[in-house]
Amino acid sequence: MSAKSIKKLTIPQPDDWHVHLRDGAMLAAVLPYTARHFARAIVMPNLQPPVTTTARAEVYRDQILAALPEGIKFSPLMTIYLTDTTDPHDLSRGHELGIVTAAKLYPAHATTNAEHGVRDVKNIQSVLEKMQRMGMPLLVHGEVTDPDVDVFDREAVFIDKILKPLRKDYPELKIVFEHITTSEAVDYVSSEGKKGGLAATITAHHLLINRNAMFKGGIRPHYYCLPVAKRERHRQALIMAATSGAKMYFLGTDSAPHFRQAKESACGCAGIFTAPSALALYAQVFEDAGSLSNFEAFASRNGPSFYGLPVNEKLLELMKIDHLKDDINSILTENRQEIVPYRNSAPLRWCVAEV
Ligand code: DOR
Ligand code: ZN
Repeated sequence: MSAKSIKKLTIPQPDDWHVHLRDGAMLAAVLPYTARHFARAIVMPNLQPPVTTTARAEVYRDQILAALPEGIKFSPLMTIYLTDTTDPHDLSRGHELGIVTAAKLYPAHATTNAEHGVRDVKNIQSVLEKMQRMGMPLLVHGEVTDPDVDVFDREAVFIDKILKPLRKDYPELKIVFEHITTSEAVDYVSSEGKKGGLAATITAHHLLINRNAMFKGGIRPHYYCLPVAKRERHRQALIMAATSGAKMYFLGTDSAPHFRQAKESACGCAGIFTAPSALALYAQVFEDAGSLSNFEAFASRNGPSFYGLPVNEKLLELMKIDHLKDDINSILTENRQEIVPYRNSAPLRWCVAEV
């Protein structure tokens, strides 16, 4: 059967290897959209205050489990937000106890709630040594924060200034270069990832929009995220990487909800909320690239393989939609605050069948 005529895809249930679930009313409102499709998710720790210790990660994990809709099975995989003063023993204890899966490196001030992040990688040497010994993955927000570096160049500069030296100093450290957005990142991960120990997540929105989307007919805050979307040639490089099926690339939505007024503001927050339609959006990208046969590797197999976890046994079905239907405009929290999901320029073509 040619890729074009595929109407149904049955794959092991996917996981989301990078998501923001927030807390409180926002958590209750957004969690069902992730939990209904994904079996597991790597949960980002950039709450206010951030999740910096094993004890906090355990409390947060229990909040997520308590917010799950009845009858839904979902495993949050918790992460710790690294700071200049992270205690390596606490981190390793959390990992050994199975409470903490990975640690997140936010360069200080790189993005939303990153002000407590790491000011210099030298400050977390003992943490990185311990993580390397334990095989605990380091998840990196790969952007430098130097104000002299153009915002569109921050990822490429990060590779040269931070990532390459990090790989040299900690050759056995498992690193996930999160939400990559540039051809430079694709080149680096494709060549280095072959040696093992380095992988990257790719979001649906970076596969679907380039930087023009933010300025189409006016300023479009709902297409603003960090790292910011880049030129079309970078998007094409990301599509090639994601749809290749290569083991070093896997699904991470970086779904990052903010309330409508925080996005539509004179200083709007970075973050795109894709959870409601993420799988359908990814499927569309793979279909358009003629690579639906590689969707299973990207969505269901490469992530577990990198993290050393089993592939999910349960299956999930994606179906081509006969009658195009519009995606949702907004969702409301229990205190009636609005969150605007990502909307594609065209109606969704795929849907997830009930599992
Ligand atoms: O766009 C983003 N939003 N990028 C990040 O790195 C953080 C995230 C958020 O937490 O809103
Ligand atoms: Zn993120």
